[in-house]
Amino acid sequence: MILPIVAYGDTVLRKVGDNISADYEGLKDLVANMWETMYSAQGVGLAAPQVGKAINLFVVDTSGFEDEDYPDLKRVFINAEIIEEWGEEWAFEEGCLSIPHIREDVYRWSDIAIKYQDENFEWHEEEFDGIAARVIQHEYDHIKGKLFVDYLSPLKKRLLKNKLVNISKGGANTKYRMRIPKK
Ligand code: NI
Repeated sequence: MILPIVAYGDTVLRKVGDNISADYEGLKDLVANMWETMYSAQGVGLAAPQVGKAINLFVVDTSGFEDEDYPDLKRVFINAEIIEEWGEEWAFEEGCLSIPHIREDVYRWSDIAIKYQDENFEWHEEEFDGIAARVIQHEYDHIKGKLFVDYLSPLKKRLLKNKLVNISKGGANTKYRMRIPKK
């Protein structure tokens, strides 16, 4: 089932996602719905707060990128914790399904080590770089209540203010369904 994607301005996007256990009600359906929702909106990642659930869960599939330099990563991350970030800080133009039609350069570390559980609640500890690390960092931020626009300079933020207000009022024209924050 395709779920509406929560638009910028909703308080759920600012909550820290709770860790969950294997008996979290409806988890299997939720993960399936998140995949379906992400693909239908042509996203490469989706975090649970973006479908209205403040829990530590996100999905990533980087095969949507045309970049051949890195192997594709498709994975469910549950109870994730980034342990370390290092390497070089590099800029990449990010977007977000909750913040349509805005893309801006964000600097992040090139390499990460992350601990997480998969959909079977098996623990993993892995290192990622390139696009995979980038998408994971973006989705992980969602779990921490953080959005890519938070990284922008005060000037950039001011320039984008009207666009952001417009999104939060339901003014963004998207091909996918959005959930607009109530006043
Ligand atoms: Ni996002």
